[in-house]
Amino acid sequence: MIKVRATGAALGAEIMGVDFSQDLDDATFNQIADLWQQYEVVFFRDQKLTPAQHVAFSRRFGELELHVRKDCCRPGYHELFVVSNIIVDGKPIGSQDAGLFWHSDLCYLKVPSRGSLFYALEVPHDENGKPLGDTKFASSTAAYNALPDSTQQKIAGLKAVQSYKKGYYRERNAGPRKALTPEQEARTPDVEHPIVRTHPLSGKKCLFVNEGYTSRIAGMNGLEGDALLNELITHSTQPEFIYRHSWRVGDFLLWDNCLVQHQAIPDYQLPLRRHMERTTLTGTAPF
Ligand code: SIN
Repeated sequence: MIKVRATGAALGAEIMGVDFSQDLDDATFNQIADLWQQYEVVFFRDQKLTPAQHVAFSRRFGELELHVRKDCCRPGYHELFVVSNIIVDGKPIGSQDAGLFWHSDLCYLKVPSRGSLFYALEVPHDENGKPLGDTKFASSTAAYNALPDSTQQKIAGLKAVQSYKKGYYRERNAGPRKALTPEQEARTPDVEHPIVRTHPLSGKKCLFVNEGYTSRIAGMNGLEGDALLNELITHSTQPEFIYRHSWRVGDFLLWDNCLVQHQAIPDYQLPLRRHMERTTLTGTAPF
């Protein structure tokens, strides 16, 4: 019997009464899918998922992405992108810099991801037992709805350039990303997506720009474009649109990459260990 507890923020709900180590019937699966649409982020506590169960449940939503950085995926599971600060035999076991800037997963691809399913295997804590390494989620629907009418009209029909190599803020605050191999580079040319994106399932309108990967407004160079992008990016992550998730080992959390952008908080370092694994659902071309 499923129970739902909304976080009280603009988005997010905990779903109780589901055990992902057991088979889930279609009715329960459909209920989870509906709640995910409604709350934009949903999470389940105390789950014990094997990598194969994580992948199999994710596949019920559709095709999975094989991340361009295969070196960051779990050995034997190209579908599982590892986000971790752990180093084994001198080699990072996953991506150490994932999500430090606000972003939406794979928004820099022609077909961005539909959603991501994130499982917490190891969570760092401070000396008082407080979890570290939270993730913040901002509702892109709440951000769009809160824009003044004049701004909604101004951005209707405009596109923004999304770039794996440089985002407007990332470029200014952290410089370009780790260099890509020529093959990875060929898979990630800059792309243009609508600034106001329509969710393919619900038809909700979402503000689809972020500081991590959006580099400029297409066709609007110079100060005017920079000022508009700056305004939209600053607006989109105001506290009233945010839910901040404090992780516990065994948390399984689903976010929608059209309805939500997210950011990881790097307030810990080794020997405190963080190990998370993510499947990433293939999406559809934005409109
Ligand atoms: C990500 O953006 O996939 C990583 C988020 C996190 O580490 O909290």
